[in-house]
Amino acid sequence: MEMPSGKRSKPNIMVTGTPGVGKSSLCEQISEITGFEWIQIGNFAKENDCLDEFDEEYKCPVLNEDRLIDELEETMSGGGVIVDYHGCDFFPERWFDIVFVLRTDNTQLFDRLRQRGYSGKKLEDNIQCEIFQTILEEAKESYAQEIVHELQSNTPEDMESNVERICSWVDLFLQNNE
Ligand SMILES: Nc1ncnc2c1ncn2[C@@H]1O[C@H](COP(=O)(O)OP(=O)(O)OP(=O)(O)O)[C@@H](O)[C@H]1O
Ligand SMILES: [Mg+2]
Repeated sequence: MEMPSGKRSKPNIMVTGTPGVGKSSLCEQISEITGFEWIQIGNFAKENDCLDEFDEEYKCPVLNEDRLIDELEETMSGGGVIVDYHGCDFFPERWFDIVFVLRTDNTQLFDRLRQRGYSGKKLEDNIQCEIFQTILEEAKESYAQEIVHELQSNTPEDMESNVERICSWVDLFLQNNE
């Protein structure tokens, strides 16, 4: 049977949250289980020439959001994509069927980022970002409230239950769209 026009048969999933909350660890597992394509926006931007000038303060290149969106449009329209990024407000709202915001306790996040070699302003800014729930607010302002879900990501058990929850949701979506 044909799908109603404009509807995806496979969902697109956004996984967002402060750096270090565990987005990529989670996405890797979901991608393995579902077979969906996992796109780490940072890598994708690098590989597809979507980076602008270097930001001296943060010591990282600046994303060219418009170019990135153009580059991704076709992939997203096919469905079955997991997008992994520490921001979510510049993507077209229509791209996503569900948005997950991972959350981690400050002390845990601090240790994870320190272990990664972050220090000074970069470390402080990221911890503040988590304390102020910046990405959660951004997600709620950018997408319909009912598709935005906050998930705790403190322990391996959390990760396991998040994987289960997301994969069950994917199964349901696929069943409903058969
Ligand atoms: N639920 C969890 N419990 C314990 N440790 C975790 C959990 N999730 C991730 N970690 C650990 O935290 C670290 C950061 O995880 P990861 O790289 O997946 O974060 P990220 O959100 O993708 O970060 P970035 O935005 O910088 O890419 C890794 O060492 C990972 O093993
Ligand atoms: Mg990552």
